[in-house]
Amino acid sequence: MILITGASGTVGRAVLEEMRKTGEPFKAMYRSENDAKKAPAGTASVMADFADKDSLNKAVAGVNTIFLVCSPIPQLVELEGNVIEACTKNGVRHIVLNSALGAGDYPKSFPSWHRKVEDKLMNSGLSYTILRPNGFFQNIVAYNAPTIRTQGAFYAGMGNAKTSLLDVRDVAAAAVKALSSPEDHSGKTYELMGPEALSNDEIARRISRIIGREVKYVDIPEEAQRKTMLDAGMPEWQVTALLDLQAYYVSGKCAAVTEVLPDLLGRAPITVDQFLNENKESFHSHAAVA
Ligand SMILES: NC(=O)c1ccc[n+]([C@@H]2O[C@H](COP(=O)([O-])OP(=O)(O)OC[C@H]3O[C@@H](n4cnc5c(N)ncnc54)[C@H](OP(=O)(O)O)[C@@H]3O)[C@@H](O)[C@H]2O)c1
Repeated sequence: MILITGASGTVGRAVLEEMRKTGEPFKAMYRSENDAKKAPAGTASVMADFADKDSLNKAVAGVNTIFLVCSPIPQLVELEGNVIEACTKNGVRHIVLNSALGAGDYPKSFPSWHRKVEDKLMNSGLSYTILRPNGFFQNIVAYNAPTIRTQGAFYAGMGNAKTSLLDVRDVAAAAVKALSSPEDHSGKTYELMGPEALSNDEIARRISRIIGREVKYVDIPEEAQRKTMLDAGMPEWQVTALLDLQAYYVSGKCAAVTEVLPDLLGRAPITVDQFLNENKESFHSHAAVA
């Protein structure tokens, strides 16, 4: 039996959808009954909280393989650590861990938290596969679409730095390859890069072309970014983590395009143009806000 954690989140939901295509049996883990009710019809679900060890022991009983993902919060180190411990105790054989690009070489921000979990997993004696994805195309809709709708512009401090973003559905497809045949992917760490390195100016040009209206990328100083995020009510730890992550992107280390993802998937990854075309409605000023 396969267990998919984080099934209400961006990555976990995509893994669930991809898993459904295989026809293999699996269970989805939720911590809220409300979210479990929204699971696609026929999905077997289990309720548990990473902070509640008893609930985890029950959730992993009879499970062979787990997809492990948690929200990008500092507590993920402890929370995912609890899952690894429950897996060791209850005879789970393999964990597919959703980590992040930078866990290998960036000792700050989200990547450094993920690295701690990776280390715990590697020392657990369990079989494992680690996925270190680059940033997701989905961030463009989540973070940039709101000001594109209202101001025809989006803002960051990326300068001309390029990033090879990828689609979360391809992260999910890679995860399902490892969940379905763990023996072929055991002990492996995959750094998942998208098919093209793009600057924010280039992303603005692509969006403009696709929606038929000019969209601009505006570079702003770090202090202005910090103030905007704090004024919007974001906690300080999150603002610092996001700015530190941006510094990693600006270093140029997230711009590589490699064969790791296409080799894993056995096909070309989803392109940014495909993603933007599918989501073009979210950039129009009349778009409904979720
Ligand atoms: N966004 C990117 O570009 C990017 C790139 C690389 C890596 N990542 C990594 O990807 C990971 C997941 O991202 P995401 O966008 O899928 O996050 P998300 O949408 O916030 O989903 C996180 C999931 O974890 C669950 N969760 C959180 N705390 C839990 C707990 N105590 N017990 C049980 N479940 C819990 C959430 O459940 P609830 O719905 O109940 O809260 C949710 O299902 C993060 O760790 C991030 O660092 C993101």
